[in-house]
Amino acid sequence: MDDVDPSAGPSPEAGEPPVRLHPLTAGDVDLRAAVVALEPAPHQLADSASARQTLPAADADPRRAPFAVLVGQEAVGFGVLDRGDLLAAVVDEPERAVLLRGFYLAGAAQGRGWGRRAAAAVPALARQLWGPVTAGGPALVVLTVGTANTAALRAYAGAGFVSTGVQQLSDGHGPQHVLVAAVPQDPPRTSRGAPRRRR
Ligand SMILES: CC(C)(COP(=O)(O)OP(=O)(O)OC[C@H]1O[C@@H](n2cnc3c(N)ncnc32)[C@H](O)[C@@H]1OP(=O)(O)O)[C@@H](O)C(=O)NCCC(=O)NCCS
Repeated sequence: MDDVDPSAGPSPEAGEPPVRLHPLTAGDVDLRAAVVALEPAPHQLADSASARQTLPAADADPRRAPFAVLVGQEAVGFGVLDRGDLLAAVVDEPERAVLLRGFYLAGAAQGRGWGRRAAAAVPALARQLWGPVTAGGPALVVLTVGTANTAALRAYAGAGFVSTGVQQLSDGHGPQHVLVAAVPQDPPRTSRGAPRRRR
């Protein structure tokens, strides 16, 4: 499957390497090994866990789609899009949404604008994976984020996510904001350039 192109999000500054989202398939052996080695800072594990746990969990559930965040050819981050039962606790119409979870960049890759750019490409990835709403795809990407997680809140805001105004209390994670972003309904731009056409 094609990678989601950074042009799906805000334009990168001149000279910056492209940030892409790569949906992980069973054949991505080397990339999977690279992603599993990525760790957020130790104090951030409560915010996102690490791919060492969340990739096998995603592999075991067909409703979850794991993806790598690539900068150039290098894996720097990880996330999961989940259309499973957890959504019902977060949104009123779970069948129209997809949950972004377990999203993080390796500690050394943070603070360079890559998290914001990766988050901005997530709605286009959802469109690529599940298709438009008319084909059963999601209309919204939804996520929960700790109210004290300043870096994530700023990254998501810069990526176009907005607050629903709802706050939740999550077991062991404290109060969380619920944020959403619309899934584009046009065919996604991919790393190969032009929008793909159905044959
Ligand atoms: C959340 C995360 C993905 C953001 O990625 P990032 O690459 O570090 O963030 P960016 O460099 O794109 O910065 C985004 C914004 O956050 C700000 N920011 C970055 N680190 C910050 C920090 N430690 N404190 C305050 N603000 C910070 C940046 O200044 C920027 O703000 P601006 O757009 O208003 O200038 C990353 O920090 C991370 O992996 N955190 C650990 C796991 C986590 O919290 N995941 C989210 C769970 S919901």
